[in-house]
Order: sequence, then C-alpha cells, then structure tokens
Amino acid sequence: MAPEETGFSAPRGTRDLLPPASSAWQKVIRYAQDSFSKAGYQPVETPAFEQTEVFARGVGATSEVVTKQMYTFTDQGGRSLTLRPEATASVVRAVLENNLHRGALPVKLAYFGWMYRQERPQKGRYRQFFQLGIEALGASAATVDAEVIEVADRFYKGLGLKTILKLNSIGHPGESCRGSYNDALVAYLREHEASLAEEDRARIATNPLRTFDSKESSTIAVMSEAPVITDHLCSDCAEHFVTIRSALDAVGIEYELDPRLVRGLDYYTRTAFEFVAGDLGAQNAVGGGGRYDGLAEVLGGPPVPGIGFALGLDRIMLALGDIALEPAVTAYVVALGDEAIREAFPLATRLRRAGIGCEFDLMGRQMKGQMKDAVRSGARFAVIIGEAELEAGEATVKDLATGEQERVALDRLEEWLGA
Ligand code: HAM
Repeated sequence: MAPEETGFSAPRGTRDLLPPASSAWQKVIRYAQDSFSKAGYQPVETPAFEQTEVFARGVGATSEVVTKQMYTFTDQGGRSLTLRPEATASVVRAVLENNLHRGALPVKLAYFGWMYRQERPQKGRYRQFFQLGIEALGASAATVDAEVIEVADRFYKGLGLKTILKLNSIGHPGESCRGSYNDALVAYLREHEASLAEEDRARIATNPLRTFDSKESSTIAVMSEAPVITDHLCSDCAEHFVTIRSALDAVGIEYELDPRLVRGLDYYTRTAFEFVAGDLGAQNAVGGGGRYDGLAEVLGGPPVPGIGFALGLDRIMLALGDIALEPAVTAYVVALGDEAIREAFPLATRLRRAGIGCEFDLMGRQMKGQMKDAVRSGARFAVIIGEAELEAGEATVKDLATGEQERVALDRLEEWLGA
C-alpha cells in the first residue's frame, strides 16, 4: 500500500525487510552464528535499551555517537534510557553485573541485533541497523586480537565478500604513549588551526585524535601531513602491535597498515581495525572493532581488558547483492475435487510432521492456478490428488523441474519425498 493510502510509513532511516530479502538476511545471520561459534564465542542477549550513562560514559562524551546520535528518552519512572547505539558498552555492563569476569577467562560472547543511531540516512546508513559482533574479555595477549580479526576475516571470506582490512594501533592513554603523541598532535593542529574546518578547531582541546575522522576537505588536507600515532607508541604497545601482525601473517590474513585510522568511539586502546568493501560508496565500512582495555573501569568495574568487533549486516547485504536461497518447501499438494480438497490440509500436515516442507492451495484455485502457485512456492514436487488417485490410494507426483511424473502410494509419500 502506498503511504498516502494509510498515512503511515516506516520512520525515516528505518526499513521493512520483506521476502525474499528477509530470508537471505536470516541465512547470513545463521552463517555468522555458526562461524563465530567455531571459535568458541557464545551468544549473549542484552536489552535493546540501557541506562543512558552506560553509553554516555562507555562510548564517551566526545564521540559523535553520544553527542549527536543517541535515541534518549525518559520513561514513566523518570529514568533516562537510551536505545543501544552499539553493543560493546552493553556487553561489558552485562559481564560486570553478572560477574562473568570472575569466572573462566577470556569471556567470549557473540551478539546479533538491532542498534539505533540518529544519523543522516543515506545508502548503507540507517537509523536502525543490524550488527553481528563478538567481544572477548579478560585477556590482553595479542593473540586474542589476532583471533578476533580471524573470526571476522573467515566470516567475510566464507560469504565470498572481498574486503580490505585496515589495521592500526592507537596506543594506550598514558603519558609515555598516546599522551606524548597528543601533545605533538595538538602542537601541529595549533600551528595549522587557520586551515582547519571550524568544527574541527573545537576538537583540538577535547579530542584531537578525532580530527583524523573529519569529512571536511580542508581538515583532510591538514591531516595528511600530521604526525601519526604509530611513531609515538610506547615499547609495550609497539610490541603488542608487532605480535598481532606476525600472528596475522602466520595465517595468511592480509591487512593494510593505516596510521590515520582512529575509529569514532572513545573507548579504544591499542588495536583499531576496520573492514572496507570495494564498491559501496561513502558507507564502505562493513565492520570495525578494536581493543578497549579501559572500558570496564569507566563503567565502574575493575580493570578487565577487552577486544571485539561489530559487522554491519545492512552494508554486508548491500555488498553481497542477490544471494542464492534454498526453497523452504519440497512439496505442494495440488487437490482436485471436493474430497481431495478436504484431504489437502491433512496430507500437508502429515508431510510437515515428517519434516518435509509442504504448502497447499489456500485460495480456492483451479488446477492451473494451483500448479502456478506450486512453482511460486519453490517446491520441487507437485503432489497431485484427484478422485482417481484417492480411489487408488495414490498421488501423482510431478517433478516440477523435469516435468516427469509417477504414481506413488499415499502411505509411502514421506519415504519417497524425504529420501
Ligand atoms: P562501529 O564502527 O560504530 O563500531 O560500527 C560497526 C559497524 O556497524 C560499521 O562498520 C558499519 O558496518 C555498521 N554501522 C554503524 N553505523 C551504521 C548505520 N548507521 N547504518 C548501517 N550500518 C552501520 C561499533 O559499533 C563497535 N561497538 C564495534 C566494536 C565491538 N568495537 C569493539 N567491539
């Protein structure tokens, strides 16, 4: 129905997922669940909304996600709640609340769910979007970083999606590392302040690293000559980074070093990475992640190192285009005559109970219409029952791909179709 008929349409930046795209979507989610679990990541479900502070503090006060994009509301009890703009802060909150960090480590969790950000909608950017993610908590070894990247890499490759992995280390916040880099960066930015876009000038004091994310051409030009973090890493962070790279090299995972990759969320420490897909236009990041060793403390817990990623399913589906789907049903009961029409529902039920996908006519169609609907259903076989068949205790089974048909005893149908 056109919106003018009802007056309603899906809210700006949201979409309905309709068949057959919805089935393709489910297929990719099942594949993600399977490939993440192959590395031992178990599903976790957290609420779609949290206390606003979880994100305000967790994701960080200088990130655009928090300053511009959150769906925040006050509930009937006067509490400030926010629809989750991402799940990492939620997962860390859940781990701390349920004391998983005091159990077997690392805690390895996977999530598959809708996220909400009030961004300007465009191709590949929505206000409700779906992420596939994993988080590993409680381990700081570089091997965990490599494992997390391996999980994403194997998932994309298994889907046949070509991506480029961009990799960086943004160090840790201490004076010996990002602190000293920040001083060098701020000095450089002050020197070139006049050439920066106005919005970016304000960031010099609050979060100078974020200027690397600017979309303003004047700022981009300045940043191309700016000092880079990788020249300022402390020896521990530098060694951590080298170890990740050799672990990735050892398993043949290719990456591009990108010393200007800083990512948009405040919690990152050390490793930051992003997967981009070739022909998606401006919104070409199909996934991203990194380490967040300080996040648990920011949320009031003890130090618990962590690393993870989230992959954007909306963009992955755009990049994949049409994907092949197996039909859900195997058989379609075509019924002719009153008695056979009464038999169609019990017969379809019998086949379904035996695990054979089956549909039948629900619209009172004639033979020709039913045969057409059988083709629409994707069924391989039409199970035709008319007066003559019922009398003989048989059905005419027609292979819709080859046109061949044969009589099969009704009580042997499960065996014939299921084999
Ligand atoms: P993020 O980079 O903000 O990271 O989002 C991850 C992915 O979600 C993006 O690469 C993109 O594919 C998809 N995405 C983000 N915003 C939108 C949008 N408005 N519309 C469509 N797709 C979108 C995070 O969310 C971190 N929590 C990832 C992480 C997990 N870091 C550590 N652990």
